[in-house]
Amino acid sequence: HQNKSQTQQLPFLLSKVPLSLHSSRQQVVASNAFGAFPIWARLFLREFVLIYNSKESDIISIMNNINEQTKSELFEKAENMLKFSYSPYSHFCVGAALLCTDGTIYTGCNIENAAYGPSNCAERTAIFKAVSEGKKDFVAIAIVGGKEGIIEDFCPPCGVCRQVLSEFCKKDFLILLKDKKNQVKEFTLEQLLPESFSL
Ligand code: THU
Repeated sequence: HQNKSQTQQLPFLLSKVPLSLHSSRQQVVASNAFGAFPIWARLFLREFVLIYNSKESDIISIMNNINEQTKSELFEKAENMLKFSYSPYSHFCVGAALLCTDGTIYTGCNIENAAYGPSNCAERTAIFKAVSEGKKDFVAIAIVGGKEGIIEDFCPPCGVCRQVLSEFCKKDFLILLKDKKNQVKEFTLEQLLPESFSL
């Protein structure tokens, strides 16, 4: 019925907003496009979308100016990292792809160690690679994983990785997960790590 079609159009209509204010760059994001908007405008848009029963992740995607094509690219790159996973102890392979606000993508895999403790998760590998090359502004991360590199269920980031993400990322940073049926789950960092610790 009519409401439904309005709802479906809404993400499309809203997607025009940040782009019109943005620079002529076609590429993903030069900055969080909604950073240019005052907080009341962002809250208004968010409420508007929620009232119209649209998915909150839609507006968050729009606010982060990330489209479906970019998400697919992130998943593809994350999946591609499974083959580099060094996980002889757990045999659980994880791959991650981190999108920076300048449009570059840093990838990572988990790297285990005989002493277990020094093992590093895929997400942190990606973040540390990026930060060590001067990148500190991030839009989203895609994560996939599974036993022997076969994706089964969603692979949400561990608590340590959530805390590391919170060191660099804003509350609306997107965490993208995918299972073997190609179902996608999207969370904001705020959703996965509410009331986070910072100094
Ligand atoms: N692992 C990740 O790489 N990311 C996560 O968020 C969860 C766990 C890795 C660590 C370890 O090498 C293996 O998965 C099993 O825990």
